[in-house]
Amino acid sequence: MEPNKRPEVALPDYVQAHFDRQSPLADHRQLYTILQRGIRDGALGAGGKLPPTRVLAQALGIARNTVVHVYEQLALEGYVRAGVGRGTYVAPLAPRLTATAVRPPRAASLSRRGGELLARAGAGSQQWGAFVPGVPEVRLFPTAVWNRLHLRTWRRASPQQMSYATGGGDAGLRQAIADYLQGTRGVNCVPEQIVVTSGTQQSLHLIAQLLADRGDSVWLEDPGYWGARSVFANAGLHPLPVEIDAEGMAPSARQLRQPPKLMFCSPSHQYPTGALMSHGRRRQLLEYAAAHGVWMVEDDYDSEFRYDARPLPALQGLDAQGRVIYLGTFSKTLFPSLRLAYLVLPPELVDAFARALGELFREGQSLQQAVLASFIAEGHYASHIRRMRAVYAARRAALIETIGSQFGERLPVAGGNAGLHLMLGLPPELDDRATSLEALRAGIITRPLSLYSMRRPAPLNGLILGYGTVREEEIAPAFGRLAAVVRKALGKR
Ligand SMILES: Cc1ncc(COP(=O)(O)O)c(C=O)c1O
Repeated sequence: MEPNKRPEVALPDYVQAHFDRQSPLADHRQLYTILQRGIRDGALGAGGKLPPTRVLAQALGIARNTVVHVYEQLALEGYVRAGVGRGTYVAPLAPRLTATAVRPPRAASLSRRGGELLARAGAGSQQWGAFVPGVPEVRLFPTAVWNRLHLRTWRRASPQQMSYATGGGDAGLRQAIADYLQGTRGVNCVPEQIVVTSGTQQSLHLIAQLLADRGDSVWLEDPGYWGARSVFANAGLHPLPVEIDAEGMAPSARQLRQPPKLMFCSPSHQYPTGALMSHGRRRQLLEYAAAHGVWMVEDDYDSEFRYDARPLPALQGLDAQGRVIYLGTFSKTLFPSLRLAYLVLPPELVDAFARALGELFREGQSLQQAVLASFIAEGHYASHIRRMRAVYAARRAALIETIGSQFGERLPVAGGNAGLHLMLGLPPELDDRATSLEALRAGIITRPLSLYSMRRPAPLNGLILGYGTVREEEIAPAFGRLAAVVRKALGKR
């Protein structure tokens, strides 16, 4: 049969039924999706004629060019065929949405390593709302200042800044970070020791790839940062849990007899317990690392936020032997989707890290880095941190007061007077994973403490509550919803 003898699809009706003028999607994206879906699920049968672009554009009240582009895109992908002067038709063998296409990927199709990574994955799918841990108050970010610096940076953008980057990061940003770290964190460094990455996860990935081989062991605080465990395990390293005592990471006598390749710790605000590593323990571990050639990875993710005293200087500042790799991130002080973080490396490692960064990930974000450099150098970073410290301190106090008023001493609060989260202990008869799931059903995001531990049974039972994302006045009502979940579970016992 000739294409032009085929029946016309009553397309404007079909499209109009699905086309939503209020949709946040661009017109072309929306139209493309509707037509593609219609063809794939068979609602628009093979051989059917699409209406002329002018007719469809008029019916939907959108630009004709938009329809032309969508038809062209569909033709390129084989969904429709177009002949000059003959109109556009649904292709006879248009890709259909078959049972196999919609089936979710089978676990068996993943590598063993991939399957294991996902089986122990800790990253939650919801990253905004009460009481998501580790997310700052992004609504108070000084957007106007950032936009101004952004525009200024882009006005001066060079071709080099828009090409692939090399060398470990924007020179201005490395300088600004070095100045900031020396002034506020007691870190001993020059800008040339800094390599800028797109997040702590990437910094950890580089460390695992460059400083350890498959089967090498890595000591991790337990409970500790699940993100580090994931990266190290996925790189084939052997994570070993190390207990934490009142002075911080406390390897056992047996563990001390077998030095690891790497040691990962958060000495200024242990994650998630909030413990501070004592000066004595810092010295002991540094000496041990120097004696056995161990790399100490110091994760200084949120130490800007201490509410009772000045932030403790970094472990790196005490290291005379060049064994510490210091990790910083802008995820907590600015906003996580910025995806900018950095390593401060012993000088002999810098070149290798900068080259490996380019080799594994290709460096980029040069303009974003330049904006951040100005933001720090012109004092906006320091004043934002000062402002946020007061905001978080008030939120933390409000949350502790609310918990106390609801549960008294029954549910203990811990976690140090710092950071963006605290720990809420649960009685042993309540399973923290089940409670966290129940809370999620009530619209409250929490993270079970047992998830942070490799040991079984987990040493701590409770929930991590982040207060970065919850306005002070919203804390009591949000906690009320969590309290109802906890009470119900306790009542069932
Ligand atoms: C302990 C710890 N370190 C570092 C980070 C920051 O990671 P990134 O820089 O990849 O955002 C987080 C974020 O949740 C964290 O909890």
